[in-house]
Amino acid sequence: MFNKKSVRDIDVQGKKVLVRVDFNVPIKDGVVQDDTRIRAAMPTIQYLLDHGAAVILFSHLGRPKGGPDPKYSMKPVADYLGGMMGKPVKFAEDCVGEAAEKQVKGLKAGEVLVLENTRFHPEEEKNDLDLAKQMASLADVYVNDAFGSAHRAHSSTEGVARFLPAVAGFLMEKEIQYLSQAIDNPKRPFVAILGGAKVSDKIGVIKNLLTKADAILIGGGMANTFFKAQGYPMGDSLVEEDVLELAKELLAAAGTKLRLPVDVVLARSLEEGAETKVMPVGPVPEGWKILDIGPETVAAYGKVIAGAATVVWNGPMGVFEVSTFAKGTFGIADAMVHSKAVTIVGGGDSASAIQKSGLAERITHISTGGGASLEMLEGLVLPGVAALQDK
Ligand code: 3PG
Repeated sequence: MFNKKSVRDIDVQGKKVLVRVDFNVPIKDGVVQDDTRIRAAMPTIQYLLDHGAAVILFSHLGRPKGGPDPKYSMKPVADYLGGMMGKPVKFAEDCVGEAAEKQVKGLKAGEVLVLENTRFHPEEEKNDLDLAKQMASLADVYVNDAFGSAHRAHSSTEGVARFLPAVAGFLMEKEIQYLSQAIDNPKRPFVAILGGAKVSDKIGVIKNLLTKADAILIGGGMANTFFKAQGYPMGDSLVEEDVLELAKELLAAAGTKLRLPVDVVLARSLEEGAETKVMPVGPVPEGWKILDIGPETVAAYGKVIAGAATVVWNGPMGVFEVSTFAKGTFGIADAMVHSKAVTIVGGGDSASAIQKSGLAERITHISTGGGASLEMLEGLVLPGVAALQDK
């Protein structure tokens, strides 16, 4: 249950509303490349405008080091949003101080202002409360709709909520509802699919899901570390040597709940069209590496997915960016959309994989948060959510 107040619970008529969004979107040569996160924030922005608010949006973008860097300016995002909304969107060259105050002062109900990147202030990532106070001084109300940044305790996501009435936006609410329902109160069988390169990124997730899920299906580079832990030489495959012991412990603790691929796709190089071979899991020859799960695995995992009532997926099954090694990832995506289960895809790589598969429309919920959705799967409390007012 989501027990935080949302924009529905407050009166915003005639108010200045400061909305933390996650507009950390890919930008190339000043042009937004993927607007998923911008579109995902629109219901909140539109609701606030329709209810008589003046809307001030702010976000981080990228990871600028130590101060302003034009490469990470929010200006292209403000322009993009203006184009999308078909109305002028104002822009302030700083997220606090004179530049921001001047723009905010002239902002009227029904208007939208975008502030410059919050990370142009190094204090932001330290959750500096002076910076948070300055941010809060711009508005009457704070709304957090930045699910993708909710795992960060920063001035704009956590600190600021201490100085203003603080509520959730619709995206935040929707994301938490889907993910917490799936993890804490799932329709069973509940199947989790975990992939990606590294076990070390997902140890907490595996441990938590072992107590919650009925089956965990492993794929991607992280499977190699488990194979090595079982004693197979892995050739040139990516293996995390420093977590081998931990992988052994996880395998022993998990029993049959944790499933590993039964066959894999090997190649000598990552190139498109490289020579490949499919083999049952076993010793990988020198010079070869595992780059995808094999067809037997797709079929076996597909059966588990077909019988599931809830499926949560985080992390690709292989190097899906190269089509030669994308069959495993797309095969799993296909099994998900043919299952009657509630299907949830974590953000980041898995979200791009599902977009690339062309099946995104048929997934129940695709998260806009990579790290944030992983931390939820790990059972952690997100500081950006904890800081909001309870219902
Ligand atoms: C993301 O893209 O996952 C979020 O915007 C958080 O970005 P960060 O990892 O740089 O904090």
